[in-house]
Amino acid sequence: MDEIHSKNGKTQEIQKLIKLSHVAKDRTHSPYSQFRVGAALLCSDGTVFTGCNVENASYGLTICAERTAVVKAVSEGHRDYTAIAISSDLKNNFIVPCGACRQVLAEFGTHIEVYMTRPDLTYHKMTVGELLPLCFTPDQLTREKIAVVSGQNPEGSTVSEIPKLIKSNGLEAEELLSGEQ
Ligand code: THU
Repeated sequence: MDEIHSKNGKTQEIQKLIKLSHVAKDRTHSPYSQFRVGAALLCSDGTVFTGCNVENASYGLTICAERTAVVKAVSEGHRDYTAIAISSDLKNNFIVPCGACRQVLAEFGTHIEVYMTRPDLTYHKMTVGELLPLCFTPDQLTREKIAVVSGQNPEGSTVSEIPKLIKSNGLEAEELLSGEQ
């Protein structure tokens, strides 16, 4: 864990965050892809959590650098983030976060600034909301829903009643199931 103090202004704070993401990249465990990624997550209180990608012989278990940083921060009691810097060894391209990491970041706010960097420390900045438009966020779970009796389908229908329900909504169940509408 590192501390960043903003007394010298935001630019310096972000440059330090970007450098920390490149340092984090050195700790990568990526023997399969040989693709090193680092991340540095800035909390609203100035605390920084770094992360690297951690791969596994069972490839699908790989954890991205960004999610490593988020999981470290949450497990240490930090949930308010202002920015994340991401780094890789791509010489001519800014590293972009994968879709899964965009969704995980969106859980904590679409306002979070994402600094996608290159090894020369130049960056391209976008917010999580810009990177993942129309994203599914926690507030959507509490929006008004249709009435559902526990264990049953919408409108209280049982599974066998679903074709009837679809038909009553103006659609032929068979057509729907066969994809010919
Ligand atoms: N990777 C990340 O760590 N973050 C991303 O946003 C993109 C991909 C890692 C996962 C894997 O270890 C390697 O890059 C190649 O996909």
